[in-house]
Amino acid sequence: MGMQKIKKINEIMTEQIKHICETREAFDNYYSTKISQGMALGESEIEIIKFISEEFGKNAAICEPGCGMGQIPIALSALGFNNVTGIEVRKDRLDDSEHLKSMVSNKFKNAGKFKLLLDRFPNSNLYDLLITFNFVSTYNNENTDKLLESFKSHGCVIMDISRFGIRRDTEEELHEFLKKINSHGLAFERIFKTIYMVRKVD
Ligand SMILES: C[S@@+](CC[C@H](N)C(=O)[O-])C[C@H]1O[C@@H](n2cnc3c(N)ncnc32)[C@H](O)[C@@H]1O
Repeated sequence: MGMQKIKKINEIMTEQIKHICETREAFDNYYSTKISQGMALGESEIEIIKFISEEFGKNAAICEPGCGMGQIPIALSALGFNNVTGIEVRKDRLDDSEHLKSMVSNKFKNAGKFKLLLDRFPNSNLYDLLITFNFVSTYNNENTDKLLESFKSHGCVIMDISRFGIRRDTEEELHEFLKKINSHGLAFERIFKTIYMVRKVD
């Protein structure tokens, strides 16, 4: 699969996010840090994108709630996935994402094809795949159980377990969280570092 293509998409997005950061007086630490590290897509996101490209068909219904500027949905669309949705609760982030997707579509026209929704987490919708990456701000530890329960209505979920609900930095915290996932009748499989594939046990 086209690592060269992913690299190119990453380059375009990095330039654009840099530009967005420069033109804002106060920009979130999150994106400033990312850009100071020199990339819109970090190694985990690249692994997620590679995994999806290898494991899912181009028509799979994929959604990233809390997509921020939409780097993952944009990259997936640019690679030819044609049923991708990004959900964001913040209007300013959504506007940035619209800008980013139009910039990437100058080079990869499919990049513009994904849907962006101003909404909250999709509890009732049905997707083949949800992605929750660095999805921390609104949900906290108290409603993590509700969220995990809602995952059963979707095909499967790729999640960064170190940044789900709260930050989990120690091995023990990560292990506890995996036990919690299991207790909801969900199975998990490690994809990369703290990125896991979670699905309902049959
Ligand atoms: C740390 S950012 C990460 C953005 C993106 N996933 C990334 O890694 O670049 C978390 C995003 O989730 C959004 N968010 C938080 N709670 C949400 C909710 N309930 N529904 C939709 N978006 C949400 C925030 O507005 C923020 O843009």
